[in-house]
Amino acid sequence: MALVASIRPMENEHVDAVVAIDHASYPTPWTDQAYRTELRNRSAVYIVAEGWDGRVLGYAGMWIVVDEMHVTTVAVDPGLRRMGIARRLLIALCREGMERGAGRMTLEVRSRNLAAIALYEQLGFERQGRRRGYYQDTGDDAIIMWQDNVQSVLRLAEGDAA
Ligand SMILES: CC(C)(COP(=O)(O)OP(=O)(O)OC[C@H]1O[C@@H](n2cnc3c(N)ncnc32)[C@H](O)[C@@H]1OP(=O)(O)O)[C@@H](O)C(=O)NCCC(=O)NCCS
Repeated sequence: MALVASIRPMENEHVDAVVAIDHASYPTPWTDQAYRTELRNRSAVYIVAEGWDGRVLGYAGMWIVVDEMHVTTVAVDPGLRRMGIARRLLIALCREGMERGAGRMTLEVRSRNLAAIALYEQLGFERQGRRRGYYQDTGDDAIIMWQDNVQSVLRLAEGDAA
């Protein structure tokens, strides 16, 4: 049976579980208040992947800026990685963004985050810039990546379902 029972909008009831995964995933995690503020932002989309028992397995978010999607976060429970959950979350963001009229997606990723870079490249994102020392907590550079044809991501999803 598939691990993910549903992908649905993040709600306040999910925030504690999301923050727990955030702490296990990022050097500078967001607070629960930061998430609750984001959930009130009408330009933002936050989603969770839930297991069959309702547990949060992972989550992702983005801002929609005119016709662009800016990914703000994606993380998966450390015990459940390499099972395709982040890929499904990003595909779901793409679908939602396209429905709202956005056709391109961008994000920043730490230059040492090889897992995330591999994930984005698998979805057709390309490196288009670097901001030196962008992350103040670790001094890492940011790699700026773009996927200019979000429709192609949805075609990948059709292949997953086939
Ligand atoms: C990056 C992250 C979200 C990936 O989540 P995930 O659910 O494990 O990713 P998926 O299983 O969907 O991986 C899809 C593809 O991405 C690539 N990938 C993912 N993790 C990888 C790793 N550790 N090493 C190499 N490639 C990796 C692979 O191509 C993988 O496909 P495959 O398993 O068929 O080879 C997860 O490692 C995480 O939560 N990290 C901490 C938070 C973070 O860094 N977020 C990104 C911020 S920019």
